[in-house]
Amino acid sequence: MRFLVTAGPTREPIDPVRYISNRSSGKMGYAIAEAALQAGHEVILISGPVKVDPPRKAKFVLVSTSDEMFDAVHRHANHCDVCILCAAVADHKPAKVSPVKIKKRSGNFSLELAPTRDILESLGRQQDRQFLLVGFAAETNDIVQNAAKKLRAKNCDIIVANDARLGMESDENELMILFRHSEIKTLSRAPKKFLARELVKIFSEFATKTFDKKNETITERTYK
Ligand code: C5P
Repeated sequence: MRFLVTAGPTREPIDPVRYISNRSSGKMGYAIAEAALQAGHEVILISGPVKVDPPRKAKFVLVSTSDEMFDAVHRHANHCDVCILCAAVADHKPAKVSPVKIKKRSGNFSLELAPTRDILESLGRQQDRQFLLVGFAAETNDIVQNAAKKLRAKNCDIIVANDARLGMESDENELMILFRHSEIKTLSRAPKKFLARELVKIFSEFATKTFDKKNETITERTYK
């Protein structure tokens, strides 16, 4: 199968030397990319700037802003069987990017922010998508309820939820996996590399089932 994985943070420029970003290390996404390669899949890793080296056998696309990540994902998604959007994409970006460095001011000042495009939601809206769509949800409270809301709102097949305080910048995580048909599976606290192998197994099994279903429908139609 062909896997697409997004990872890391995005950087939303304020001026030529400043940006808005977050503390995502990219470790979970990189571990999933590595585990998918080890399981014999092809991998396209689309990543914001992080300190981890990409797996050598992955096709690697380095991006910086949410708009670059959006374009890269849309260029590749329809050629993939499983799309895992693990990146911590900024929710907002400066409404205007100053072409020159903004000068220091003595008092308070505000920066106008505009929403970024939601990449996961845009894939979920695609009518006849032929790939399994997996989103991530880092939450600090009501983890399962918020993740379930996200699963419906973004129309994905699976949401992997975790406690943002435990997973960010860490080598370990604890995951709740919510499936489209309301099943929930928990993977208790473990190194991200171990969890990644479990996730890849779950995703490829689920994708196989989903694609078989689609093939049956096509066969039925052919014989009518
Ligand atoms: O809504 P929230 O940002 O918490 O959703 C997280 C999920 O949505 C992650 O899978 C993340 O990669 C994805 N996302 C995205 N584009 C955005 C914001 C989030 O793909 N602009």
